[in-house]
Amino acid sequence: MRFAVVSALAVPALVSAHGFQGHARQAPASSAPAAAATTAAAPAASSAPVAASGSASGASSGVLASALSGSLTFTPASVNPTAVPLSEIIPGTVTTQSTVPLLTTPTAGATPSAFPSAPPLPDISTINPANYPTLDKTPPTDSALVQQWIQDVQNTGIHIPDIEPTVLGGCPANPVAAADANKTRCWWTCGGCTADGDVTTCPDKLTWGLTYDDGPAPYTPSLLQYLEANNLTGTIFTVGSRAISYPNTLRDEYISGHQIAVHTWSHPYMTTLSNDQVIAELGWSKKIIKDVLGVTPNFWRPPYGDVDNRVRAIATAMGLQTSMWTRISPTATFDTGDYDVAGGLVSPYQVLNNWDSIMGNASTIDTGFIVLEHDLFAQSVDLATGYILPQALARNPPLKIMPIVECLNKPMSDAYIETNDNTTNPPIASGGATAATFSSGAQQTGSSATKSNGAVAASYFSPDMLTSAMGLLAGLGAIVL
Ligand SMILES: *[C@@H]1O[C@H](CO)[C@@H](O)[C@H](O)[C@H]1NC(C)=O
Ligand SMILES: *[C@@H]1O[C@H](CO)[C@@H](O)[C@H](O)[C@H]1NC(C)=O
Ligand SMILES: *[C@@H]1O[C@H](CO)[C@@H](O)[C@H](O)[C@H]1NC(C)=O
Ligand SMILES: *[C@@H]1O[C@H](CO)[C@@H](O)[C@H](O)[C@H]1NC(C)=O
Ligand SMILES: [Zn+2]
Repeated sequence: MRFAVVSALAVPALVSAHGFQGHARQAPASSAPAAAATTAAAPAASSAPVAASGSASGASSGVLASALSGSLTFTPASVNPTAVPLSEIIPGTVTTQSTVPLLTTPTAGATPSAFPSAPPLPDISTINPANYPTLDKTPPTDSALVQQWIQDVQNTGIHIPDIEPTVLGGCPANPVAAADANKTRCWWTCGGCTADGDVTTCPDKLTWGLTYDDGPAPYTPSLLQYLEANNLTGTIFTVGSRAISYPNTLRDEYISGHQIAVHTWSHPYMTTLSNDQVIAELGWSKKIIKDVLGVTPNFWRPPYGDVDNRVRAIATAMGLQTSMWTRISPTATFDTGDYDVAGGLVSPYQVLNNWDSIMGNASTIDTGFIVLEHDLFAQSVDLATGYILPQALARNPPLKIMPIVECLNKPMSDAYIETNDNTTNPPIASGGATAATFSSGAQQTGSSATKSNGAVAASYFSPDMLTSAMGLLAGLGAIVL
């Protein structure tokens, strides 16, 4: 086992940036009893309360320290016997370990187990990173390819609403946009507005549309091994910059039966970009996935959930269905907070307590659900494979766990443009059954209408921090892999 531990200093900023808008969710640890770190691999709820001050709304060193302690408020039904002990899942570090091997060594010509009719895997030996945009930066819009994609979007005839891009900083920094967030703009990050056509839940009760975002990354193979061993498949929202860094991991995910979907090229706040930049982000991300896998996804998830009707319309024109995570009220968003462990903002205990709340809420709603989780950092993967997934598998009545496309009662072949036969999943850009409608602004339902939490915005840092830390991770991966 080999650790590459980076200074914690840069990373809280990174994670604050990530947490800025998308993570207005369950209350942070401040109200939960805290205790000394549990050391056993099978933690039980601790009864020794000590002061707790963990808060996801700040990035001070005090937060960093407090995030190291915590306790579970429930007793897990099952823990993986080989789980990394919770006390050894350390907040505030970017940890990459030498990984387990990939499940497969996909070679050109192979096809995924989920649908053998897929086109053969392309030869990737000729892929030259120099022919792709700079990692972790929004690609330039003046290249011939992006200009072509801009033309293609225009040719669809889909109306792109004339909405000003937001500035970084969410609701408080955008008063005009915030006033319109529930209406024509339908800006999810500032009030939770969803549009017809957004995927926000799985229709069938106790069905979990399993998702992992931001990879592929050095630690991803550990997750893939656990999923394979337990016959689980999910939807992997892939960052284009990571796909070109770890193409064989992406191929392994795809060949093993997971659904591959788009999560942009450089992970920006999409509502802050110009139309042409949105097209460049989505276009390059679709292209690298197609170049590595031979198929083009038709689902995408906006980083931080940052989407409005302008960005939705562009995604639709590019054949991408917008896929969020479940949010049943301002305080019950199905976000584990797992991403924030690496930045020291959330303890591993809090992630599992969040998970327990999600499970509680999932049992009260009439639909299934989708949860936000990540595979970029080791801590998130260790929590998933050691605790969250074993706990989920032990539930009674059992959860049905599957990729988003399948939880929507569609075959895996519907997840890609090249293999979609257009019967159960008509192309979204041609106004198919699942196309979003943008007319008078989609309405929220019931209690999901909300205003954003200004306190969360206070922890905002520039996304440049995110990109530099992701780039750093990519560099580390090159060392450890
Ligand atoms: C996975 O599926 C295979 C074949 O259906 C079965 O033999 C195996 O027991 C399953 N494993 C688990 C952990 O469910
Ligand atoms: C739903 O989630 C909220 C926020 O995390 C939590 O306080 C509440 O206890 C959960 N409900 C159930 C039934 O678990
Ligand atoms: C499905 O629709 C797309 C986009 O309109 C089209 O390019 C493709 O040929 C169609 N596929 C089939 C099998 O008809
Ligand atoms: C969105 O609408 C709800 C009521 O439907 C309201 O409580 C909330 O403040 C609105 N959010 C914004 C950002 O305007
Ligand atoms: Zn993300």
